[in-house]
Amino acid sequence: LRAPNGCPVSARAAAFDPFEDAYLQDPPEYLRWAREQEPVFYNPTLGYWVVSRYDDIKAIFRDHGSFSPSNALEKITPPSEAAQQVLASYGYAMSRTLVNEDEPAHMARRRLLLEPFTPEALRHHEPLVRKLAREYVDRFIDDGRADLVDQMLWEVPLTIALHFLGVDEEDMPLLRKYSIAHTVNTWGRPDEHEQLRVADAVGNFWQLAGNILEKMRRDPSGTGWMKFGIRMQAEHPDVVTDSYLHSMMMAGIVAAHETTANATANAVRLLLQHPTAWRELCEDPSLIPNAVEECLRFSGSIIAWRRVALRDVDVAGVTLPAGSRVLMVMASGNHDGRHFAEADLLDIHRDNAGDHLSFGYGAHQCMGKNLARMELQIFLEELSRRLPHMTLAPQTFHYLSNTSFRGPEHLLVEWDPALNPERRDP
Ligand code: HEM
Repeated sequence: LRAPNGCPVSARAAAFDPFEDAYLQDPPEYLRWAREQEPVFYNPTLGYWVVSRYDDIKAIFRDHGSFSPSNALEKITPPSEAAQQVLASYGYAMSRTLVNEDEPAHMARRRLLLEPFTPEALRHHEPLVRKLAREYVDRFIDDGRADLVDQMLWEVPLTIALHFLGVDEEDMPLLRKYSIAHTVNTWGRPDEHEQLRVADAVGNFWQLAGNILEKMRRDPSGTGWMKFGIRMQAEHPDVVTDSYLHSMMMAGIVAAHETTANATANAVRLLLQHPTAWRELCEDPSLIPNAVEECLRFSGSIIAWRRVALRDVDVAGVTLPAGSRVLMVMASGNHDGRHFAEADLLDIHRDNAGDHLSFGYGAHQCMGKNLARMELQIFLEELSRRLPHMTLAPQTFHYLSNTSFRGPEHLLVEWDPALNPERRDP
């Protein structure tokens, strides 16, 4: 086997399979050999070059002259003819948003749409995040057990996401189902039967996004990032296009909630698996912001992201030919001992925890990162204050098979309600 640059493909490179459970169970462990021995390798099954070290990933994110994000939302598994027909029957036309747009179009659009993400604008969302976190904990605090994913961590970020975007809450259960389908459609390896089911859900999602947009256009006043986008379109129709608004409505609903739900579930699991860190944080909540960064480093929710080489380009001494597709595994870079001392150790005091690559880097770095951070912090504040004695219930963690989005499908925790701090000290 040979890579497109003529070099031989090693057995391990050929065996790399991100749809295998071992990858999702522990991505940095799965790629340890690569970080150590073959930091850039070609995987013929995927048709992607896989990059695993911190510095190389960061350099690729930074270099938009050599690497384009245009493939970021492409279907990583080529769809069957039948699945394409299903998508076409819904008029599916997912195209450029921000995350997959090249310069200079990208930066012009990003600048116009930035205001709702400023710290002042985000402060308006804080009371709702707090209120929802409290209400959801109220519902199960006396039960002594909960599935935090099903009973809190999915719905609260989804509600916040819709609120942030300016979308009504009516279709929440449907949106959860559609978001999962979108993840499988874009980053998964569905078999032929699954492809049809997923295409049907994604087609419905596309139409729903269009309907939400049409309704919003009738009255785009008030708060919400998508409403702001519609108002910006009136002034700059060539920058904020119809295609952008429709694509962003769908991609935005996913970007704004699934990532945050998964990141919180990963963080709570990780902290409960490290009881010393959890106890410290319960006793001193001022440690929470840095703990959030360390959790995002150690176990982020977007573990890999894509680029395509615009010209022949060197990565860690390997020449990737123009047109090469690249999968950067940030979860691996985040455990690179060349950048993080004792990288496999969870250290909530780590001073460079915030250097992680879980929000990407450079021109496209996650616009929602501060909203996500605020949510993560508030969820940890509420849980550590009200349920400091919770522990993980015995369980096996399951993940949705895909290259990029990672979070446990369920997170079972338990505690003795008689020991709830608010019972002892109401
Ligand atoms: C882009 C991760 C939450 C909106 C990105 C990218 C990543 C990412 C990896 C691509 C960065 C790049 O190419 O350099 C995450 C994670 C989140 C999260 C891990 C939660 C823990 C959010 C939220 C929102 C959001 C809550 C919106 C409210 C966006 C947007 C972009 C983006 C609009 C595109 C930015 C651009 O291309 O200029 N995010 N995200 N994200 N994210 Fe997030």
